[in-house]
Amino acid sequence: MNNDLEDLFDRQPQEIVDGDYYFHTDNEGDQFDETDVKLWLEEGIFKEKWRQASQNDNELFSVFSEDVCKIFSCKHSAFLEIACGPGMGLTPMILSKNPQIPCLVSDACSLLVKSWRKFIRDNLTEYDINLSSFSVMDMPLKDESFDIITSFIGISSTRSGEQGKIKALSEVYRVLKPDGYFIAIENEWTDFNAIKKVFDLWGKPVWNSMKAEKSWKEKFAECGFTIESCEKSFCRRLHKEDNDLGEQADAFGIDIMLKFNLYILRKFVK
Ligand SMILES: C[S@@+](CC[C@H](N)C(=O)[O-])C[C@H]1O[C@@H](n2cnc3c(N)ncnc32)[C@H](O)[C@@H]1O
Repeated sequence: MNNDLEDLFDRQPQEIVDGDYYFHTDNEGDQFDETDVKLWLEEGIFKEKWRQASQNDNELFSVFSEDVCKIFSCKHSAFLEIACGPGMGLTPMILSKNPQIPCLVSDACSLLVKSWRKFIRDNLTEYDINLSSFSVMDMPLKDESFDIITSFIGISSTRSGEQGKIKALSEVYRVLKPDGYFIAIENEWTDFNAIKKVFDLWGKPVWNSMKAEKSWKEKFAECGFTIESCEKSFCRRLHKEDNDLGEQADAFGIDIMLKFNLYILRKFVK
């Protein structure tokens, strides 16, 4: 771990592996296993995701890339990526334009983080990518540590419903420096009737995680953020490869639409 970033932690990790700090939060993240590791490292998923995001060869990222990278052209600060997942979020897009910027990339799943360490060691040595495994709902980081925090559906991916999202957003706010940026692409469902129809035909109750009590804007405001911009969006159909619901929607011939929005949020302290 880069010494400057190491100083930002406010507690000791349960484990340090290859210099990376692990806080044993696997229960909170996705339950990946060795089959996923094989796909990521041996079948080229990490490599392909990194290539697509860094070369703008991805329809969704190409819509947002200019707006995201514009912020880094003025501010060359280290950033924190939350819930990095198997795509590493916005990190490949940002580093492809700003290879010198250090970052701390995090996810609750330790197996994923260990796999990224292996991939970075073999393929991405030119970058200063630090890794840690912790939950975004309880970050082991000091207040006001980062100028920029980034998320690609990181808040959307948390597993404790609306309260979990508020907890995660409050943590992001706490860890941001005054005037800092939270750059987040988060998603939402656009047609609840279509979702209800698929669950009815499937014979299952609608998943709790799909019911948003508050809009993203309401959640951001509740946690203290000011919205600097939120005009850019991208819509796509839920695919059968996405999850069980996508598989059912495809089988019944019903389109469930997902909208991805880019939110540029600020922490302005009065
Ligand atoms: C669908 S991925 C999100 C997309 C990801 N940013 C990417 O670019 O691939 C979901 C990720 O969120 C992580 N996650 C879920 N809940 C979390 C939490 N509370 N804290 C940190 N990571 C979490 C999961 O472990 C998983 O890796």
